[in-house]
Amino acid sequence: MDKGLLEKTANELVAPGRGILAADESNGTMSNRLEAVGVEPSVETRRAYRSNLFSADGYESSISGVILFDETIRQSMDDGTPIPNALSHRGVHPGIKVDTGAKELAHHKGEKITEGLDGLRERCEEYFAMGARFAKWRAVIKIGDSVPSNACLSTNAHALARYAAICQEQGLVPIIEPEVLMEGDHDANRCYEVTAAILDATFSQCKVQGVHIPGALLKPNMIMAGKDCEEQISREEVAQKTVNCLTDHVPHELPGIVFLSGGQSDEDATAHLNLMNQMEVEHPWQLSYSYGRALQSEALRTWAGGKTDSEASSQQEFSHRARMNGLARSGEWDESLED
Ligand code: 13P
Repeated sequence: MDKGLLEKTANELVAPGRGILAADESNGTMSNRLEAVGVEPSVETRRAYRSNLFSADGYESSISGVILFDETIRQSMDDGTPIPNALSHRGVHPGIKVDTGAKELAHHKGEKITEGLDGLRERCEEYFAMGARFAKWRAVIKIGDSVPSNACLSTNAHALARYAAICQEQGLVPIIEPEVLMEGDHDANRCYEVTAAILDATFSQCKVQGVHIPGALLKPNMIMAGKDCEEQISREEVAQKTVNCLTDHVPHELPGIVFLSGGQSDEDATAHLNLMNQMEVEHPWQLSYSYGRALQSEALRTWAGGKTDSEASSQQEFSHRARMNGLARSGEWDESLED
């Protein structure tokens, strides 16, 4: 394992003012998102949308890396440049989603286990040769009456650590993503409890399996009440509870935490991160973003809008959100900048 390379890449990904764009929607998810805005999904429309997004002006000042899906890392920009090369030329690290999706967990109805370990070593080797320098694996944890089960927590934690170890062996920084879903009517305390449990299980497995923590990143949810809970907490409470939970359950030698947006509004995702970075205390890790929807939803809607300047306007929407989140990295975002 090349610890020096892993630590260098991990630190570049969470450099001040910068964060990650998650553009690794699977073909199924991306097709649903295109259909939702009235675009016929195809290999070409998925490529065209992303090629336009990655051509936006100046986003590299607030985007350090882009996570791609297998189809996209093999595609080219409009001018024929392979997408990973186009990103690298701009000083943006190409990343790759390497899990093959969350499947039903045997004997645990409604719970999921993320698959993709078979052949992972060979796939990582190929992706590294294509220019990828980091990877992502997402585990999905649902909160409900009697879930998550210990089986769901322990199998997902085990798989996350196995994935992380294999990636590191192949020179890719693993983004470890145990996502506790916002779906449900649970309160914020229950979210805190479940998030703490999956973080403990995951880092305990990372220790057992020899994962090099200074060469890895964590992509967690924030601590919030479920979408259907009547008692929502304030932005300030989300920021404080999230920082408390992470401080107590994430090793302090980890270089960075890159949050997912998970269905939060664009502005909530930015505001929460901003509040965390405004706190008086010095956090042990960089607090950054790896947003998918919160960086892209307006850009996608605008691209599909069919107006004559929709391509340029879509790029502006993306650059704007990237800049807003870049400011939130140092607590310098303000609502008035959104006008
Ligand atoms: P969202 O920010 O849309 O939740 O996506 C992040 C991601 O990559 C989920 O795996």
